[in-house]
Amino acid sequence: MSNLQLALPGLLGDTAEWVWRDDDFDEVPVKRFEHATVMRDEVVRAIGPRAGGTYVDATLGGGGHTVALLEAEPRSRIIAFDRDRAAVDAAQQTLAPVADRVTFLLAPFSRLPEELERLGITRIDGIVADLGVSSPQLDDAERGMSFRREGPIDMRMDREAGETALELIERLPDDDLANIIYEYGDERRSRRIARSIKKALVAGELRTTLDLRRAIVRAVGPARVGGVDPATRTFQALRVAVNTELAELERLLEVLPRLIGEGGVAAILSFQSMEDRLVKRAFATAEWSRLTKKPQSPSDEECALNPRARSAKLRAARRHIDQGDPGQGLSQEPGLE
Ligand SMILES: C[S@@+](CC[C@H](N)C(=O)[O-])C[C@H]1O[C@@H](n2cnc3c(N)ncnc32)[C@H](O)[C@@H]1O
Repeated sequence: MSNLQLALPGLLGDTAEWVWRDDDFDEVPVKRFEHATVMRDEVVRAIGPRAGGTYVDATLGGGGHTVALLEAEPRSRIIAFDRDRAAVDAAQQTLAPVADRVTFLLAPFSRLPEELERLGITRIDGIVADLGVSSPQLDDAERGMSFRREGPIDMRMDREAGETALELIERLPDDDLANIIYEYGDERRSRRIARSIKKALVAGELRTTLDLRRAIVRAVGPARVGGVDPATRTFQALRVAVNTELAELERLLEVLPRLIGEGGVAAILSFQSMEDRLVKRAFATAEWSRLTKKPQSPSDEECALNPRARSAKLRAARRHIDQGDPGQGLSQEPGLE
């Protein structure tokens, strides 16, 4: 079976597997790209794409939500963002059969207003954002996001810009590092961990992700049987900081009401309580009618098939326009940068 058949179930072939595989291509050493799309049907149901509609996939990744939306409404089109060149390149290949309906953008989704303006789009009809990182990003040791695989302490989604996690650790004083670990990782033992990481750095013992994990374990002790790895929260915190993930989401939530047309739906999947809180707060404003008062979680079946879906929370809201709303959209917002 070819790559494309595996990648686009329904569009190209009849397969239930929702992954990309490159194993068949022995002569071309292509990296495996496997990401199981989370809450695919729930997202499509919430957005309810319409013929002629323009939708945004803020987090293209493996293209799962993009394809699902296009399948649900073949006469719609998608503007797809990802800040990871590897993801965009791979998706461009895999989504080639539907490329006439997808505009691929290598950009952070915080640039939504600028990119839409550049494309001459004044309104979108809906958006999905599936926050966080993809399985290929987590699984590729070279990206440095996993404490289980030895790699550089990098953690950037966009490997062409910004500071790596190691550079962040080198630059920040102990207290600031501890604050990041506490705030973005919800880690109570942040001070001890930050001191231990800095000590390893000074001793020249902080070169790889496994060194980083060792420094964390030195501070807090090994994992308890059946418990989460002691490095989980610190790795998450550093990744969130390196990729300015909360600022990205805040900016998206701030600009969305001006860009979504009346009745358009925003569906946001978050995987951390900090993100979910931001989405909850934004959707509680007068600009939105919530479709989900409580966040929706994946089914037990989905969690069994894809353990990474377990922490997902889906919130969806419809753009609601009061009479007398001053208007929305880029064309009426010349001041929008
Ligand atoms: C969870 S994956 C998306 C998976 C996708 N929905 C699918 O079904 O295949 C998240 C993707 O969003 C990208 N991403 C995360 N934050 C981003 C941001 N602020 N701007 C653009 N892309 C971002 C990551 O690089 C990653 O490829």
